[in-house]
Amino acid sequence: MAYTIAVAGKGGTGKTTISSLIVAALLADNRTPILAVDADPNTNLNEWLGVEVTGTLGDLQADSLKTRSDLPAGMDKRRWIEYQLQTLLLEQDNYDLIAMGRTEGPGCYCSVNDILRAFIEELTPNYRYVVMDNEAGMEHMSRRTARDVDLLLLVSDQNPIAIRSAGRINELKDSLEMNVGEVHLVLNRVDGEPHEMVLAEIEKTGLNLLSTVPVDDRLMQYSLEGKSLLELPEDSPALAAVRKALNEVIK
Ligand SMILES: Nc1ncnc2c1ncn2[C@@H]1O[C@H](COP(=O)(O)OP(=O)(O)O)[C@@H](O)[C@H]1O
Ligand SMILES: [Mg+2]
Repeated sequence: MAYTIAVAGKGGTGKTTISSLIVAALLADNRTPILAVDADPNTNLNEWLGVEVTGTLGDLQADSLKTRSDLPAGMDKRRWIEYQLQTLLLEQDNYDLIAMGRTEGPGCYCSVNDILRAFIEELTPNYRYVVMDNEAGMEHMSRRTARDVDLLLLVSDQNPIAIRSAGRINELKDSLEMNVGEVHLVLNRVDGEPHEMVLAEIEKTGLNLLSTVPVDDRLMQYSLEGKSLLELPEDSPALAAVRKALNEVIK
């Protein structure tokens, strides 16, 4: 079964960046094949990875309504949806990417959600690692597909509000029907050592600080230039920090 890593935390703290660095770190250690899942409705993990997304599971959900009456001859709805799902899986070298898009809200049909869930469940055993970039909250995870998470990484910067937010997500996960193996905090965008007050704030949350990821100007530069973070050199301090942290947790 695939080892699932989910990344969550307050918006703007670096979830998508860290998710991309996780993919880069796994690739650097030949921990493949990898499925990268963009579970943020504002699909953007693909940009960090330098991949063009042609459609999301959410689009498919909306489209499946339109196609109800005009399915190709001889194809039932389930097979049609499965066929379309295959086209949404973007196959790269050593990893695949799939974008969830907006799969909730009006136009959400339970039968389609069930098919999506079944699809992800069928898909994941083909991979050694699943890396899931999430939107700020975690509520959607229980309703959606990520019931079983081996490693939940809560990303925060040194802003106390972001640290408390990570603490709340940690508490929230217990009230959702999720099975989470390990939870750790990743403190991102740290210039030098974290401030004492920051460490005190982290202690209040009870979270284990797994890693501090340094400020790395190349990250900003790459995203501005639309360059894939997978092209970062191995001596990138942010990549090195994420790689080291993963190797401490994943055996
Ligand atoms: N360690 C870091 N060093 C420098 N810039 C960073 C770092 N982590 C994230 N950033 C920048 O911060 C911004 C927000 O990061 P992003 O990953 O999009 O956050 P989120 O997904 O949590 O909203 C991006 O412009 C990104 O390049
Ligand atoms: Mg993001």
